[in-house]
Amino acid sequence: MNKILNWGLLSTAKINQALIKPLRASKRTRLLSVASRSISSAEAYAREWNIPRAHGSYEALLADPEIDVIYNPLPNHLHAEWTIKALRAGKHVLCEKPFALTLAEVDAMSQAAQETGKILEEAFMYRHHAQTLKVKEIVDSGLLGKLQLIKGAFTFPLTREGDIRSKKEMGGGSIWDVGCYPISYARMIVGAEPVEVFGWQVESESGTDDSFIGQMRFEGGVHAQFDSGFKSPDRSMIEIVGTEASLTIPAPFKPGKTSEIFLSRNNEQEKIKIKGNELYLGEVEDMCDAITQNTAPRISHKDSRGNVAVILALLESARLGKPVALARG
Ligand SMILES: NC(=O)c1ccc[n+]([C@@H]2O[C@H](COP(=O)([O-])OP(=O)(O)OC[C@H]3O[C@@H](n4cnc5c(N)ncnc54)[C@H](OP(=O)(O)O)[C@@H]3O)[C@@H](O)[C@H]2O)c1
Repeated sequence: MNKILNWGLLSTAKINQALIKPLRASKRTRLLSVASRSISSAEAYAREWNIPRAHGSYEALLADPEIDVIYNPLPNHLHAEWTIKALRAGKHVLCEKPFALTLAEVDAMSQAAQETGKILEEAFMYRHHAQTLKVKEIVDSGLLGKLQLIKGAFTFPLTREGDIRSKKEMGGGSIWDVGCYPISYARMIVGAEPVEVFGWQVESESGTDDSFIGQMRFEGGVHAQFDSGFKSPDRSMIEIVGTEASLTIPAPFKPGKTSEIFLSRNNEQEKIKIKGNELYLGEVEDMCDAITQNTAPRISHKDSRGNVAVILALLESARLGKPVALARG
């Protein structure tokens, strides 16, 4: 119950920096190792971030008997392969979003987790934050009336040359990178999968989407609309509209330690202040709970699978130029 869990970083990815502080802040974790495809880069990274061990290959990290949990922040096309290898090496895995790029990959990841009895969770950090829990609580309380519409956006200007996000073969494109957030948020709020989707994309030279405009139709007359993109300024928002009131969340995906959401009803707006925690600490603590206390991870494999299924259907819709129905079950 009180075991300190040793974590290893699978690569020197930029996003590691978001996890390093929480891994040090939690009383239940120790950041023990980092791996890179080259030993010199692993050693330099370990020195820079004061990490005790450096491994010159991903295999060496997975073979380290003292590592309990692997954080997988590899490019999207490597999520499934290295998550499965880590699970089969006896490690628990926190895997970055998007969970995987095909449903077959998601199913193989789930199967590996089931067969090894190890915890596997997608690193959608916003799901654990107090703001998200509060928004869900408000919607479920019926305060907004009957749910009608969810609108969302996540864009930023991608200016880094050669970034993994612009490479088709690595699962690049804005819908996989940032569109996955408003899709995930809308599905969480509705608490169900859409039955039909429709999307358009602006294609880049490499064949990825530079921007994506998507719509989702849920049963019972609920709809969601979102846009994602690499060619617009930093934008993120969620608006949830019911028959009685609406809720605006200005920072839905990266809320700070304190945040504000706005409830609009009867032509008046009420500001709701929320005290949260370090954004990325929630996923670390959720993994620790699941591993040491046998609780269900907040994000189930079914939920992660649903998100991948919707993204694939939206991409198919954009390709075909017509709505695509989602398979049941
Ligand atoms: N949850 C969030 O807030 C959040 C934010 C940003 C990104 N992410 C996710 O985290 C993942 C990584 O994103 P990032 O921006 O941190 O990526 P990044 O800086 O480009 O890092 C990816 C790492 O993967 C390793 N790698 C292995 N094979 C590679 C290859 N063929 N090409 C390039 N790199 C390769 C490299 O590490 P070595 O050289 O050390 O082996 C590289 O540093 C993505 O899945 C992304 O969606 C999540």
